Amino acid sequence: MTKVLIDCDPGIDDALALALAAGSSLDVQAITTVAGNVGLDRTSANALALRDFLDMGDVPVLAGSPGALVRGLIHAEHVHGSDGLGGAVLPPPSREVTAGHAVDHIITTLHDHPGEITLIALGPLTNIALALRREPRIVDWAAGIVVMGGSYTRGNHNPAAEFNILTDPEAAAIVFAAGWTVTQIGLDVTLTARVTTAVYDRLRDLGRLSTSLLPSVTHYGVVTPDTGPAIHDAVAVASVIDPTLLTFTPAVVNIETAGVYTTGMTVIDFKVADRRPNALVATRLDVERFWDLLVSAYRELGRR
Ligand code: BDR
Ligand code: CA
Repeated sequence: MTKVLIDCDPGIDDALALALAAGSSLDVQAITTVAGNVGLDRTSANALALRDFLDMGDVPVLAGSPGALVRGLIHAEHVHGSDGLGGAVLPPPSREVTAGHAVDHIITTLHDHPGEITLIALGPLTNIALALRREPRIVDWAAGIVVMGGSYTRGNHNPAAEFNILTDPEAAAIVFAAGWTVTQIGLDVTLTARVTTAVYDRLRDLGRLSTSLLPSVTHYGVVTPDTGPAIHDAVAVASVIDPTLLTFTPAVVNIETAGVYTTGMTVIDFKVADRRPNALVATRLDVERFWDLLVSAYRELGRR
């Protein structure tokens, strides 16, 4: 079983990504939270509620950074609602967050399982950057790092920048420059998988997951026969479960931190020549197989 640590800011699509992880073969070692879509208190409370709702047992949930390294807060409440989950009603969590700080836990967990754990970052990269600053050797200890963020085409929060990178560009710059090879799952691929009417229908009859979480998808996108909302973070989790779902292209990725109109842009150069690529950028997603994977994981969860 592939061991993962999921750093996230739930978040509707984070919730659906956690559900995918819970219903899959992944062995989730910990969930760490960061401020992003909503504030840290909310992302942590949502992670706790989701851990129970998704039957994730004793997976520890630790709270991390309440804001970006150097910038003011940007939230995405207009997308995810003030509760972060688009009004989804989950039973209240039975337990509190685990004592300690997410950044320490990331370092300790990677240290204790060298070469075994893949980091999956579904929110702003603040926690991962702080972990790198405190303990650069996590680059060698992590089995890999997958980041949902950025794009080589356009942004979503503004024309240049994707939300997770824009929210903490300095952190993203640290993560991409750390010396490991980042697997980047950007908008270029996540926006190709839309919850169309046909997809929504497949997700409709999967037990309590459908009744509790699925309606929140329509909170941020209208489902039509041709298009619908994307659930970005689930693609990042899917890429760890089955990397053959995606095509990856080596690239040199730099993060714009000083732009007038382009702060938070991922500047992606596929012409690496004799430079060492610092990223494998997802350039194609097998959309049909992605939905098949998601539906079968959700069906598995519904059976429990
Ligand atoms: C990313 O931004 C957040 O709003 C989502 O949860 C996802 O991680 C998409 O740009
Ligand atoms: Ca997210």
